[in-house]
Amino acid sequence: MLTKIAVLVSGNGTNLQALIDAEKNGKLENCQLALVIANNPNAYALKRAAEHNIMHFVISRKAYKTSLKYEEAMQNLLLEYKIDLIVLAGFMSILSPQFIQMFPNRIINIHPSLIPSFCGNGYYGIKVHQAVLKYGVQITGATVHYVNEIIDGGKIILQKSVMVQPLDTPESLQKRVLEEAEWVILPKAVTLVAQELKKEKQDD
Ligand code: GAR
Repeated sequence: MLTKIAVLVSGNGTNLQALIDAEKNGKLENCQLALVIANNPNAYALKRAAEHNIMHFVISRKAYKTSLKYEEAMQNLLLEYKIDLIVLAGFMSILSPQFIQMFPNRIINIHPSLIPSFCGNGYYGIKVHQAVLKYGVQITGATVHYVNEIIDGGKIILQKSVMVQPLDTPESLQKRVLEEAEWVILPKAVTLVAQELKKEKQDD
């Protein structure tokens, strides 16, 4: 049985690309990238999905009267495509506790720091790397974790560290964290979680 994966994105989608490449190279064992949902119609990630013939949709908060309706639209798509695992890969929208509880232990997120540092409310994208440089830590990295009701607070699945260089800018650090950590651990974490889900199904 294949684990059907939905990837939720908002922007460039290089983490989505890492998953696409891993699938192509046979490194996403027993997984299928079945669906991409973007909350931003201009997300370049949509082009990546199209290029690789992955079903993709835009569900934008602005198109719905309430957050509830917005999340219902996402939920319907996830159920329609019989998604087993939801991967937040640069998805810049906070999901409600109600939504998260609909998919217990079935939502994972990649965050560009070593949790519990530089995470939580207000820490996303380039802001994380700005905060890392401002604080002056010498080691940063990335974390893949389960999503629960606490922002960036769910159980950690994988982490990888990256050294901060003396001349780093937020942009150079962001690039290295993506290349050296995020693109490496995200496909691995997806495979690990898919194995767990498979075991759960077999034990049922
Ligand atoms: C990645 O660095 C990801 O870890 C981060 O946004 C970037 C998206 O890049 N996510 C967060 O900050 C979530 N809190 P991508 O669109 O190229 O994958």
